[in-house]
Amino acid sequence: MDEDREAGRITVELEGVPETLLWNLYQRSVEAGRPGRRLLDDPRAVELVERIDYPFERFGGDGMAQWHALRIACLDREVRRFLAAHPGGTVVALGEGLETQFWRVDDGRAHWLTVDLPETVAVREKLLPDAPPRRRTVACSALDLRWMDDIGPGTRPQDVLVTAQGLLMYLPPREVRRLIAACAERFPGGSFLFDALPRAMVARNQAGGMDTSGGYRAPRWQWGMDTGEYRKVASASPRIVEVRSLPLPRGRGLYAIAPVSHLLPGVRSMRMSIVAVRFGPADYRNDARA
Ligand SMILES: C[S@@+](CC[C@H](N)C(=O)[O-])C[C@H]1O[C@@H](n2cnc3c(N)ncnc32)[C@H](O)[C@@H]1O
Repeated sequence: MDEDREAGRITVELEGVPETLLWNLYQRSVEAGRPGRRLLDDPRAVELVERIDYPFERFGGDGMAQWHALRIACLDREVRRFLAAHPGGTVVALGEGLETQFWRVDDGRAHWLTVDLPETVAVREKLLPDAPPRRRTVACSALDLRWMDDIGPGTRPQDVLVTAQGLLMYLPPREVRRLIAACAERFPGGSFLFDALPRAMVARNQAGGMDTSGGYRAPRWQWGMDTGEYRKVASASPRIVEVRSLPLPRGRGLYAIAPVSHLLPGVRSMRMSIVAVRFGPADYRNDARA
């Protein structure tokens, strides 16, 4: 990563899965920078795209931006709900990339721990440096559970929300289950929030047919889940008490159907899932679900 001091722009050179964070950032910035009614206020995303020297046009046009924004608006709503119910609670954002969610949802009390791969953290540190004690970063894989030790020692496990936004599709299916189960074990009373791509889309990506209109090809997706399958998530751990599928907010034009898109055959199989999981207290064990 080089900084062109004169222009104040930063060249970001990431490859493979870490590069996908630029895809998401760009789509957020397109929606946030759009005139008229928009689904997302994210001035930091717009500012970051202006600061980063990268051929963002590879990621294609506006249609994608609205999908991304609906996803983000849904995830933000759930994180805000958590923070309202757990004042001063801790959000652990696994695979956070250059997400700017903290600034969209912060209520002045939230604690935030970003967990991402070292090459991504090197970029994030430069563009969105930590502000301890409320906003900190750990450079390690989400699958290296040592990040759990970086949560503040006084934090009650029920005041922890672990998020995995735009991450689980890049992990092997057994690791997805293992990660959710490990969080259920470590954070009794806590919660887990994630998004998932539909199986048909994962299969298309695996077959190699998923270029964007700008010519960008996403790296290989490994895991997917259809909207109707969300209850199966409970089988990852007997400590899971609740699994909820979250409705998308209403979009513009064709996307006005987003809140009911999970009910519409044909659309359902193309729609991402957003799922909120709640863990039981320390003495909870539902052996029927194990
Ligand atoms: C599609 S981006 C999502 C970024 C952000 N969450 C968002 O929605 O904009 C995927 C992110 O996952 C990170 N990542 C990939 N594998 C990871 C792993 N094993 N542990 C932690 N982060 C990982 C990448 O570095 C990247 O930041």
